[in-house]
Amino acid sequence: MKLTLDDIRQLDFDDPLQAYRDQFLVPPHGDGEQLYFCGNSLGLQPRSAAAAVQSELDSWRERGVEGHFEGERPWTTFQELLRAPQARLVGAQPLEVTTMNTLTVNLHLLMVSFFQPRGTRNRILIERQPFPSDRYAVESQLRWHGLDPAQCLVELGSDSGALIDESQIEDYLRSEGESVALVLWPGLQYATGQRFDIGRITRAAHAAGAMAGFDLAHAIGNVPLNLHDDQVDFAAWCTYKYLNGGPGAIAGAFVHEHHHDRVDLQRFQGWWGVDLEKRFLMGRDFQPAPGADAWQLSTPPTLAMAPLRASLAHFDQAGMTALRTKSVALTGMLERLIRERADDILEILTPAQPERRGCQLSLRVRAGRSAGQVLFRKLLTAGVVGDWREPDIIRVAPVPLYNRFEDCWRLLEAVLA
Ligand SMILES: Cc1ncc(COP(=O)(O)O)c(C=O)c1O
Repeated sequence: MKLTLDDIRQLDFDDPLQAYRDQFLVPPHGDGEQLYFCGNSLGLQPRSAAAAVQSELDSWRERGVEGHFEGERPWTTFQELLRAPQARLVGAQPLEVTTMNTLTVNLHLLMVSFFQPRGTRNRILIERQPFPSDRYAVESQLRWHGLDPAQCLVELGSDSGALIDESQIEDYLRSEGESVALVLWPGLQYATGQRFDIGRITRAAHAAGAMAGFDLAHAIGNVPLNLHDDQVDFAAWCTYKYLNGGPGAIAGAFVHEHHHDRVDLQRFQGWWGVDLEKRFLMGRDFQPAPGADAWQLSTPPTLAMAPLRASLAHFDQAGMTALRTKSVALTGMLERLIRERADDILEILTPAQPERRGCQLSLRVRAGRSAGQVLFRKLLTAGVVGDWREPDIIRVAPVPLYNRFEDCWRLLEAVLA
């Protein structure tokens, strides 16, 4: 039996998370609202974000520099408010998580520590079609060490952007692992929406004697993560996608506790990486803060952290287990609607198994790239906001915090209109 609009409205009616939608500001479209499917690119603004920023502006107005140490949330320790909620989302001990910089910067800082080529163990293993910034970052890290990316950058997968099975990574590491110093992989692939088995990739990297690092831009707040138990060496993520931290918001980083007290690690240093007890003593010696905080460089931007604090409160309240349960149902429903009603128009590139994807579906218009662009523009005009990724992918991400089941129905109506 095909799904009907009544079935779908019932799902929204029964949804235990339905109230969260009102906690977010959905951009207007005409007399109504956009059908927003772009939380994989920029999450919606939490209704509480403006007050959270205003509250720090008030503290600045009332206290000036004293706001660093006084008030309800002194800025010097503001990051503490973000630590535990993000640690819960990535499955980490609190001290394994810090909030700093932006994603590409954090990947670089972590590679300074965890890409330490020695002799013939000098390769970095990445996917063939990573997010471009990751490729640029690893290429430049290799050159910085005097290595040639043509020799030392190994890219697995195909040029067509097809899915990559973890066994391909294992096979490569079994045969060539002695030459690999670092495996840098996404938790969830940005173009196809494929979710990877982080524990399995980490085990394969470690068995080969390599480090395992992950870009979690599309994974955090989208799928459950267990970085600590999976023994991941390091990870980094941005907070403007599923975490709704706002455009260009501050990023996060994870360093496994195994590495916290190592004295043999290289690390780029800044005063914010000094233990808080010592930081303001202005000493000559770098005395690292415990855990991942030692990787911080600079005074963090309070005004850019405030919206993230507001958003993380929703994650803590809703809980990742409930969010994931809804997400599997929501994306499963969108997939079913596409197959039932638009199978002749749209190909779904994202894996069909729920455990191999997050909320995003990547779609390709069967009639080709220009038909895809026409459809994408038609959707935008109708107020249906997904995004376009070259060469021919339309990404749509129903986000469990603020998308309704009915949004998926209306997306199909717009496709078929
Ligand atoms: C997978 C992935 N990696 C890296 C980046 C780059 O992030 P940033 O511009 O915050 O450094 C993005 C941005 O969207 C991304 O999606």
